[in-house]
Amino acid sequence: MEHTISVTTQAERKVTDTKSVPFGKIPTEHMFVAEYKDKTWHNAQVVPFHDLTLSPLALCFHYGQTIFEGMKAFKMQDGRVNVFRTEKHHERFTKSLYRMCMPHVPKALFTDAIKQLVKLDADWIPREDDGALYIRPFMIATEARIGIKASEEYLFMIVCSPAFHYYSKPLKVKIETNYVRAVEGGTGLTKCGGNYGGALFPTHLAQTAGYDQVLWTDAHTHEFIEESGTMNAMFVIDGVLTTPELTGTILDGVTRNSLLTIARDKGIKVEERRISYHELVKAFEAGKKVEAFGAGTAAVVAPIEVIGIGHKEYKCYIEPDAVMYKLQKELHDIRKGIIPDVHGWNDII
Ligand SMILES: Cc1ncc(COP(=O)(O)O)c(C=O)c1O
Repeated sequence: MEHTISVTTQAERKVTDTKSVPFGKIPTEHMFVAEYKDKTWHNAQVVPFHDLTLSPLALCFHYGQTIFEGMKAFKMQDGRVNVFRTEKHHERFTKSLYRMCMPHVPKALFTDAIKQLVKLDADWIPREDDGALYIRPFMIATEARIGIKASEEYLFMIVCSPAFHYYSKPLKVKIETNYVRAVEGGTGLTKCGGNYGGALFPTHLAQTAGYDQVLWTDAHTHEFIEESGTMNAMFVIDGVLTTPELTGTILDGVTRNSLLTIARDKGIKVEERRISYHELVKAFEAGKKVEAFGAGTAAVVAPIEVIGIGHKEYKCYIEPDAVMYKLQKELHDIRKGIIPDVHGWNDII
């Protein structure tokens, strides 16, 4: 599909210092919008950030056809800007759209829209070492008609916001054995809004009990670890980087994929397989060093210090020589252009 993106810039530019502002609260000055109607995309535009007007009948308010992605752009040490792994994010966006019966966004439209927007708002990319520009592509069903059906009209939008480390300290997580996030054949592999809405209550309960997040388990036995909040779960036990395999119930994380690739490149043994929490208990009780961490675009590598399993709490290894920090540093250095990007992950703007 041919597309042209028109650009209307904000008359007065003003970059806000957002270091102390909570994640996602301040948008940059521009946004991207395209409209889907009559089975095609129209009016692709980068415009000043603005609120939307939608009919209260719009299907997104009622039946959950909402999909999003989360990506980051970085300022490299030589001053250039890159967007990290656009193609992999587009692949996942495509899978989410397909599962939610929403129209495809051509790769060229997705990529160009991000490029134009990030180029225009590049001054918002923090210079600080832990800073990046968070990019949020999303799509909502806009057809104004109550009634359960796939919408015939949509908005595809992209907004951005400066981002720093999502978690400021190591996490305390609880193995969740009552509520579930996803089941085979469901929507666990997508970034649809409902997955996150359904996770709020169990997460709230865990937070009330003093934890930061839950570690979801499988829907059948409640023994096998799935993922956490907005992060894939990773462990290092006996020097092996181990993470739950992709079964369709967890998200195919771009950070997960990047860290596994980096680990393999460095000769670290990697296993993608089912991990039961009993296996973790055994390792803790045998006195082994267990590293546990979350991997995600927003959180990057989030060390887990404590895992609550039943009525017991187990301490993980978070000392500076832990493997997770080596992987984190390598990923950081690739994105910042400090070491070669051998896999072609940095899409230079
Ligand atoms: C449920 C869930 N799992 C895992 C991840 C990590 O994925 P990524 O590394 O692509 O951000 C995310 C964040 O997008 C998420 O929302």
